[in-house]
Amino acid sequence: MTLEMIRPFYAMEILGRAQAREAEGHAVCHLEIGEPGGMPAPAVRAAVKDCIEGPMGYTSAKGMRPLRERLARYYDERHGVAVDPERVVVTMGSSSGFILSFLGAFAPGARIAVTRPGYPAYRNILASLNMQVAEIPVRPEAGWKLTPADIEAAHARAPFEGLLLASPANPTGAVLDADELAAIIACCERLGVRFISDEIYHGLNYTGRDVSALETSASPIIVNSFSKYYCMTGWRIGWLVLPEDLVRQVEMMAQSLFISASSVSQVAALAALEERAYYDGRRDGYAENRLLLARGLERLGFLGAGPSNGAFYAYVDASPFTNDTMDFCIRMLEEAGVAATPGADFDRTDGHNYVRFSYAGTCETINEALGRMERFLA
Ligand SMILES: Cc1ncc(COP(=O)(O)O)c(C=O)c1O
Repeated sequence: MTLEMIRPFYAMEILGRAQAREAEGHAVCHLEIGEPGGMPAPAVRAAVKDCIEGPMGYTSAKGMRPLRERLARYYDERHGVAVDPERVVVTMGSSSGFILSFLGAFAPGARIAVTRPGYPAYRNILASLNMQVAEIPVRPEAGWKLTPADIEAAHARAPFEGLLLASPANPTGAVLDADELAAIIACCERLGVRFISDEIYHGLNYTGRDVSALETSASPIIVNSFSKYYCMTGWRIGWLVLPEDLVRQVEMMAQSLFISASSVSQVAALAALEERAYYDGRRDGYAENRLLLARGLERLGFLGAGPSNGAFYAYVDASPFTNDTMDFCIRMLEEAGVAATPGADFDRTDGHNYVRFSYAGTCETINEALGRMERFLA
């Protein structure tokens, strides 16, 4: 893997183009990024109070003790799992959590498996760290779910040391149930593969309950974030739950790589954890958007538009209209003012037929976008 492997994150590139169009006075419906907005008042008040009264200095590299203790309690409350706060490390969003996890768990040159399609930054972070990526394809016929058989076959072809998996997944919204996740973890343990569970879309599950990898085993690395369910993308705050053997190593790296996560963001996050009623209300809004978008995309003729089970994305087959969704998305933005992300972001092999739409925004935006797309496709 070399740095030439790093590609643009097209969702961000489309966002940049969309913002440039807005600066020229054009209205744009944003369905390209998974960026929910809004904060409950107590979390805002806690942050403001901290700005006025707090020292706002560095915290311990692993994060403020009260936040780590609260996060440990979260696993007890939501997953029935006892977690020692010493295993919790507060990070600057899950993005820095990946860096710490990869550097802590693997040597340069290690091969880490990810699904294809999958979140594009995984590949780019691994390439930046001089690690290799093993892509395991997942298919729409299997509900975009990874199975132990897929892992075993890929490992037999070319072994890898780690497997990184998100459930709910980006871009497909696929969600694994407890048995499916446990079978994957058991398979990894059998093969000696370290399992990294990206649980950033927990809380955004429309058909079942969230299952943490910690419910099955203490050996996986858990990566989570306040960006999605807690709508705190710009606060850059997340956390890791580490297996015992990695805690000290990751702490030492965090001390030098990042010193600490933002202190005011930690204060806001601690308050946000108590506001589930507010965030569940937001989730109910996405649940309505999810059906509205699925029905609309199906009516327009996209394939595989049935509602996803989690996250806030629809990953749909646009082959009735194009086999180059990069060009399609740019034209749809320029001619119809609808921003969506080309599938090449998530899958460099087959993504040219796919488009990802985010339904993290409002139903008004989705309705407006569907109307504009109808005119565009006509
Ligand atoms: C699956 C997945 N993991 C991680 C991230 C990164 O989020 P953050 O660094 O804001 O926590 C994203 C962002 O969209 C994502 O979709």
